[in-house]
Amino acid sequence: MKILVGFLFNLILNLQITTIDARPTRLILLSDISVHESSPAAAPISSMADLPPGTHTDIQIHQNSNKKLVIGLVSASSLIGIVLLPLTCLWICRRKKLYKSAKINSRRLDSLKGLPLTSFIGRTNTTFNTQKTSVTTMDYNILQSATKNFQESEIIGEGGFGCVYKAQLNDNLLVAIKKLDNKTQNSIKEFQTEIDILSKIQHPNIITLLGYCVHDETKLLVYELMQNGSLESQLHGPSCGSNLTWHCRMKIALDIARGLEYLHERCKPSVIHRDLKSSNILLDSSFNAKLSDFGLAVMEGATSKNIKLSGTLGYVAPEYLLDGKLTDKSDVYAYGVVLLELLLGRRHLEKLTSSKCESIVTWAMPQLMDRSKLPSVIDPVIRDKMDLKHLYQVAAVAVLCVQSEPSYRPLITDVLHSLVPLVPVELGGTLRVAETAVVT
Ligand SMILES: Nc1ncnc2c1ncn2[C@@H]1O[C@H](COP(=O)(O)OP(=O)(O)OP(=O)(O)O)[C@@H](O)[C@H]1O
Ligand SMILES: [Mg+2]
Repeated sequence: MKILVGFLFNLILNLQITTIDARPTRLILLSDISVHESSPAAAPISSMADLPPGTHTDIQIHQNSNKKLVIGLVSASSLIGIVLLPLTCLWICRRKKLYKSAKINSRRLDSLKGLPLTSFIGRTNTTFNTQKTSVTTMDYNILQSATKNFQESEIIGEGGFGCVYKAQLNDNLLVAIKKLDNKTQNSIKEFQTEIDILSKIQHPNIITLLGYCVHDETKLLVYELMQNGSLESQLHGPSCGSNLTWHCRMKIALDIARGLEYLHERCKPSVIHRDLKSSNILLDSSFNAKLSDFGLAVMEGATSKNIKLSGTLGYVAPEYLLDGKLTDKSDVYAYGVVLLELLLGRRHLEKLTSSKCESIVTWAMPQLMDRSKLPSVIDPVIRDKMDLKHLYQVAAVAVLCVQSEPSYRPLITDVLHSLVPLVPVELGGTLRVAETAVVT
């Protein structure tokens, strides 16, 4: 279509140039005649013969030029007809084809109950700073056989959404397939939001959504497989954090900050994750960290409207919990909680009694403020394995991030810049490990 419009635009432009070109010739001829007419010897002109010498040829030239113009116009319009007709036919055929495939896709997606995905995407994708354009729909049968009919042995994780299965799609593509079990209105909306946001963003520290599938009541999301699972399972699972050295933890903290900085500062409109927690931070085979689970994420502009209070207790910022005030600083608070988990090796909430929990923030604050106590409360796995100056610096960042007053919290960009010098060059920071006294 663009080519057709361009062709027509050029053709019209050419035609206009021809007409403009014809004008000066005409004007010159008229002025020539007027010169002859205004000559003192001029008498009333009744025939060609009465015209002064030279005028005859000028009028002939004028008439010839008019004839040429008419012939030019006729041939140009027939040329337009000849070229335009097949192009129009081609365009109509292409439109028909596109319309047909769009209709098939939208029928598939509209089979979702609740909000139709098509309308949701239509509402949000207008101004997004897109890098990725689409996520493919995947064939149910392929996903079903890749998970051995969603066999229990293939489960690698379970969350509020449902189970996550490991699968091999072809010779070398390992994926994680999330199956929606909880079919409430909220979970369907989360499914739609996840597709909508992840289909538009691409960053090394954000999980890649490879595709999705809607098959009757079953809804599936297909992601790149993160070989080392979640940060939560690494810290609080069977290995109890033993795979995570001090520098590895600093690299994870930096990776998450980079992912968040991309969402807050580089996406247009910016995105607030709203569910940042250690189980939503996934680690690949080299312990590169990526943010996952965008089902609760919101884009800038929607934050002032009435958004249902969501998130995970222990990670939710106090102003959001109490007043529903949601800003990028809510993510910074949750980030601070994750940073505390990395430093202390404790869960975000520890059970005190069967009915009482204590948040890591409440527990850690007095310890973090006292420099002399700090080394003794650090996760035993990494205790005494770092430069103390670095430990104080990271602890100070964590304390700032979990301030109850959001304006006291730093921006994620500031956090990012303060962590870069603490991460070894080979892990993506600027620290030259050989120069430091302590090696982990
Ligand atoms: N792409 C993936 N690669 C590897 N493991 C994954 C992947 N996605 C999810 N998992 C694993 O599955 C677990 C469950 O994920 P899921 O996002 O459904 O729930 P959750 O984050 O643990 O909890 P919630 O439902 O509250 O968000 C994760 O904690 C993680 O261990
Ligand atoms: Mg998750």
